[in-house]
Amino acid sequence: MTWDRRHLMDVDGFSASDLTVVLDEAERLRARTEDGRGWLDTLRGQSVALLFLEPSTRTRMSFELAARRIGAETFLFDPGSSSLAKGESFVDTVRNLDAIGFGWLIVRHHRAGAAAVAARHFGGRVVNAGDGWHAHPTQALLDLLTIRRALGVGADLNGRKVAIVGDVLHSRVARSNAISLTAAGADVWLCAPAAWLPGVESLPVNPTSDLDAALRDADIVMGLRVQKERMAGGAVSVGGYVERYGITEERLARLAPAARFMHPGPINEGVEVTREVALGPRSLVLEQVRNGVPVRMAVLALLHGAGMLRSQTASLTAAPTIGR
Ligand code: NCD
Repeated sequence: MTWDRRHLMDVDGFSASDLTVVLDEAERLRARTEDGRGWLDTLRGQSVALLFLEPSTRTRMSFELAARRIGAETFLFDPGSSSLAKGESFVDTVRNLDAIGFGWLIVRHHRAGAAAVAARHFGGRVVNAGDGWHAHPTQALLDLLTIRRALGVGADLNGRKVAIVGDVLHSRVARSNAISLTAAGADVWLCAPAAWLPGVESLPVNPTSDLDAALRDADIVMGLRVQKERMAGGAVSVGGYVERYGITEERLARLAPAARFMHPGPINEGVEVTREVALGPRSLVLEQVRNGVPVRMAVLALLHGAGMLRSQTASLTAAPTIGR
């Protein structure tokens, strides 16, 4: 099958076979570029602007390495020294990056919908690297690759249970993972205090505030960062959270020996998870980071291939707006 997307905004609408295409391409590109050998020229002559308007370590650095490994030139936009600091708007910034001649925009923004807005004002391809509380598609794809490898399963996760525990309300990672893991066949549970669960009704998951129910028979436990910077009123005290929802060795010990712990990072040690678990033998945290590079190479290569095929001019149908 071929990809017909021009942009990657989210994982909504991905079928199990769409997901398999990305993961298989990631494995193929990993094998060809392992240990920094074999830099490819798939995107040779193409320029990628990394428009990151929110802090990032893993996503930004791995997008940059991925783009370079497949032959692109990368340019890091520095918001603090850009005209954004003089009051230029996000849309005008995007229009100008288009006029300068970039072919790709990788967008991270604190507002939901920002990447989709960028795509309306940019002639090249746009990849969403996380927009507000909305979506983080490449994180979901690298998490899926990590789970597939860790469980030693093939294309589908049928019958596997994934418990996502933590600050679901503010988490674009939870939203994207709920969609992609369900499409891959997993049984997905979202677990958080009731104050952090609103808005999940539309997702294909089992929401619960009962940690024991969420963890029971789980194959994968995914912790989410308690996003203090997004909490205005502090409806849940962090102290109470650690006791009721923190992932500890005792809690993991009740699971099957093969069960694994994941977290997208950055981690608040001692809040959503203990340091022992995060660094322990069940942890896949650095494996997730490792898988970020091949998955992002695959996304860029597939979008490029789709552009070559000219099979579709835009994947955006509704006029997007910027939300919170
Ligand atoms: C997450 C993000 O920024 O969405 N981290 C990541 O990209 N690996 C999660 C978070 O900030 O808690």
